[in-house]
Amino acid sequence: MVILGTRPEFIKTWSTLKALDNHSEIESIVVHTGQHYDFEMSQVFFEELSIREPDYFLEVGSHDLTEQTIKIMGRSKKVIEEVKPDLLLVQGDTNSTMATALTSVQCRVPVGHIEAGCRSYDLSMPEELNRIVIDSISAIHFAPSEVSYHNLLREGHNPNRVFLVGNTAKDALDEGIRLIGNSPLKNEQFAIVTIHRAGNVDNRSRLLEILQGLKSIQMRCIFPIHPRTKKRINEFEFMDIINGSNIELVNPMGYLSFLRLMQDSQLVITDSGGVQEEAALLGKPTLTVRNNTEWPETIWRGYNILVSADANEIKSRAKEVLSRDLREPDKLYQSGAGQRIVDIILSMHRKNALGFKQLDMIQTGYPQLALSTDQKNGAMFGFTKNGSFTTSEMKYIVLLKYRKLKMEE
Ligand code: UD1
Ligand code: UDP
Repeated sequence: MVILGTRPEFIKTWSTLKALDNHSEIESIVVHTGQHYDFEMSQVFFEELSIREPDYFLEVGSHDLTEQTIKIMGRSKKVIEEVKPDLLLVQGDTNSTMATALTSVQCRVPVGHIEAGCRSYDLSMPEELNRIVIDSISAIHFAPSEVSYHNLLREGHNPNRVFLVGNTAKDALDEGIRLIGNSPLKNEQFAIVTIHRAGNVDNRSRLLEILQGLKSIQMRCIFPIHPRTKKRINEFEFMDIINGSNIELVNPMGYLSFLRLMQDSQLVITDSGGVQEEAALLGKPTLTVRNNTEWPETIWRGYNILVSADANEIKSRAKEVLSRDLREPDKLYQSGAGQRIVDIILSMHRKNALGFKQLDMIQTGYPQLALSTDQKNGAMFGFTKNGSFTTSEMKYIVLLKYRKLKMEE
């Protein structure tokens, strides 16, 4: 059973759904929670990427975080109990993802998590809470990047259940570029902007600073506006700041139009997770209006700069990132993730390794901190599965090494 709920899930699950459809031995059931429901936030992606019609619509709609979680849990429980799938597949970090994953494990159906292991280490983000919950209870983790893969191992997840599969956003991007074709780039200077994180737009002063920052960069800013942001701009009466300025609000775009525009742009300003990945893959200088990111490799490779919601900082950092020589698209994420995910699921299913015995095993399989000694190194602390280890068995991270620690201590 594959769960879809919001814009990034439709895009980032595309390649897994396609690979599932190519395997006649797997029956896949698609469930749309209805967290996103406007045409341009949902149906447009099904049409553009030829995603098949969901088998179930839960029609949960918009509510506050808690109520939405409860609604998704209640409605998905009925479907999970009716269908009793062998595995529930979820993508990313949204409420739809977390609520269905939790319900699934409560119904004793194991969960596979696509885009596992991403961490911003910012517990004020609902998405970070969701990621931690989902990864804690998932039976199989599909990591999109080396960083996310190592995050999971460091957190002590069973290495036999953590797979570095590549990034499904790259799969979708490859398909998007194939569908767009090779239309020539326009020679126009503009920035493309997406800002929708609750932490930015639900806060009046932060949203105001961001808009002032966009005005200060003196470049046309094409801003496909997320419904959450639109609602706040109206509520805070910010249209007067935008009208007649370099900020051009447009409706949320289909994936192909958005990619096309991003390809043509000189600068990307965003707080979106997916847009950070895509911008780096397209070689675009990017400002991310956040204090942290779960995609740190985009920063290490020079494509992305984190900025505060501060007009002056946005202005100065835009200059800085635009002066960087970043014309080459980056190869930082691997494609083929969707196919690898399905191959792994099939192989585990054939070994009868998707079931509950294994689900229980992961819980007891968490490494424990243990003390060991040997002649050369003295005492060492390390993570092991069973509470003790020898140097040669040491598989996980050695945390501390006290050469002079006495045995009795
Ligand atoms: C959700 C995810 C976020 C993800 C984003 C993708 C959570 C906690 N957040 O945030 O991680 O980055 O989706 O875009 O799951 N609305 C509409 N039409 C729609 C959908 C929403 O008008 O089709 C409006 C409603 O007023 C709603 C608001 O947007 O209250 C926010 O929607 P919601 O799904 O709760 O959160 P997002 O901000 O979209
Ligand atoms: N996107 C889109 N149209 C838009 C803005 C974004 O198709 O107008 C795509 C974008 O290419 C990326 C995804 O939506 O693949 C990112 O979704 P979003 O920013 O809503 O969520 P996040 O990635 O932050 O969770």
